[in-house]
Amino acid sequence: MCGIIAYIGEGNAVPVLIKGLKKLEYRGYDSAGICVVENKRLITVKRKGRIEHLEKHPGLKNINSSLGISHTRWATHGEPSEINAHPHLDCKGEIAIVHNGIIENHNSLKKLLEKEGHKIVSDTDSEVIAHLIEKFYSSSLENAVAEALKLIEGAYGLAVIQKDENKIVAARKGSPLILGIGKNEMLVASDIPAVLQYTRKVIYLNDNEIAVLTNNSYSVMKINGEKANKKIHKIKWSIEETEKKGFRHFMLKEIFEQPDSVKNLLRGRMKNNKIKLTLDMDVKKIKRIIITACGTSWHSALIGKHIIEDLTRIPVYVDYASELRYRNPVIKKGDVLIVISQSGETADTLAALKEIKSKKCKCIGIVNVVGSTIAREVDSGIYLHAGPEMGVASTKAFSSQVLALLLFALWIRQEKGYKIDDDLVRELKKIPEKINIIVKKSDRLRELAEKFKNSTNFLYLGRGINFPVALEGALKLKEISYIHAEGYPAAEMKHGPIALIDRNMPVVFLATKNNLSDKILSNMQEVKARKGRIIAVANEKNKEIEKLADYIIIVPETLNILSPILNIIPLQLLAYHIADLKGLNVDKPRNLAKSVTVE
Ligand code: F6R
Repeated sequence: MCGIIAYIGEGNAVPVLIKGLKKLEYRGYDSAGICVVENKRLITVKRKGRIEHLEKHPGLKNINSSLGISHTRWATHGEPSEINAHPHLDCKGEIAIVHNGIIENHNSLKKLLEKEGHKIVSDTDSEVIAHLIEKFYSSSLENAVAEALKLIEGAYGLAVIQKDENKIVAARKGSPLILGIGKNEMLVASDIPAVLQYTRKVIYLNDNEIAVLTNNSYSVMKINGEKANKKIHKIKWSIEETEKKGFRHFMLKEIFEQPDSVKNLLRGRMKNNKIKLTLDMDVKKIKRIIITACGTSWHSALIGKHIIEDLTRIPVYVDYASELRYRNPVIKKGDVLIVISQSGETADTLAALKEIKSKKCKCIGIVNVVGSTIAREVDSGIYLHAGPEMGVASTKAFSSQVLALLLFALWIRQEKGYKIDDDLVRELKKIPEKINIIVKKSDRLRELAEKFKNSTNFLYLGRGINFPVALEGALKLKEISYIHAEGYPAAEMKHGPIALIDRNMPVVFLATKNNLSDKILSNMQEVKARKGRIIAVANEKNKEIEKLADYIIIVPETLNILSPILNIIPLQLLAYHIADLKGLNVDKPRNLAKSVTVE
């Protein structure tokens, strides 16, 4: 879970690499480093901590180089430190590598290399790669890389340079890597935002492919030496879209973008009450749907279960990808798998997908990042088109995922010959404007956040389709504010957690109108009776709610099936403001990285 950017061209490599690293910092940010070639010599500069820290390193001043590799790290093997930061070099200091992924057999490779006299200085799994390449190097870097990779087990996105060869060699297995094709310059990166300033033309490397880039050429081959024919993709995102647009944080920008991101999801997919999806399956044969995902995407899967079962009567099972992948699940004829992932690179989700795919099950992806590994592995899918999500805490992807699941359910209904409910379509079209109404309450939510920022615990309670919203609200708060928070089905309180309630316990209730409204009111009574402090997300300030709740956040009324998309917005804002008021780094919370590409 690290970021790689490499450059070869007519420009000066150092500023390109630093800018690229800043765009990739969301992938990891505990240490960073650069290695460039200058006068047939490798110059390496590394620092613990953020990219700004590396940027100020005196060793980077006055370097004039047109070839270099760089890396921002999120530690998996070995603590964050200068020595463990990438790039890693071979014994002679002639070959340098940056690596994203995990080398599973690094211990045995290390033993083998040490026996042969190599001196391995860091605690990382990655350093062995530089020494293996050294072992095989005679005159061609790509040949040496190919030989080295044959011995490596595990995942890698890799960029390599050698002091005498004016080229970058890149390789990929299991960790994302793209090539940026510029004019007299080429780049390699873990993600698109890092190259957008220089080019919009990208090539997605596939697993087991090796690329060789010079100033004005690129070639891609498979690890077995066969040529790989690659398509150039044109990226449509604007650079602006990957930046903060005047918001204090990416997370806040992304919360405010939701009216547009949900519009983008619907664009071209819903016309005159007709749903247009291109999914490769015969709906009449579907007997069961399994949804798998991690984290926030798993929460949207839980909502998807309610939606799909309600609208299609097809049974839906939801499973954490990390559990599903190891359970040898029963897959039968008529099963369909839905995989949900914002990044499209989450290691557990990808592994679960591969496991189920190997059992000959149809696989659909609900993915945001176009061309990501999961998007390419599934049989067909629905892209969210939510634009890049840079804040570590997922926000706009969640609302779009829920909406994508709804479209999927409606599409099944349509394919089975049922008419789509006019009320639902009418309400769906109003969702962007209703989200807009809620985000405008941001200041009011900041006032509320001020009152609760010093709480040490929070409970979030919901029922039915809004129980997963409670889970997601609690996750948002804990991951960015470090306040302990739990989501619960409201009726479960009396089976244990109610013991936690006292005057210091804030309890957020999802109390918008639905068939369970009365039940939620009684759950609120139970909390009130024990002096808990109630924050209610409701559609109106009616007398009953006013009697029970200390604070009420009003959200516009909608159909119950659509309510999670609106109800989550104030919870995202509450979490954001609490974390910001506590002075925390909202976009890069401790111990977390945006894309979890390791197990
Ligand atoms: C929480 C969050 C994570 C991700 C999870 C899955 O805010 O962002 O829980 O949802 O790591 O990531 P994707 O959706 O990229 O597979």
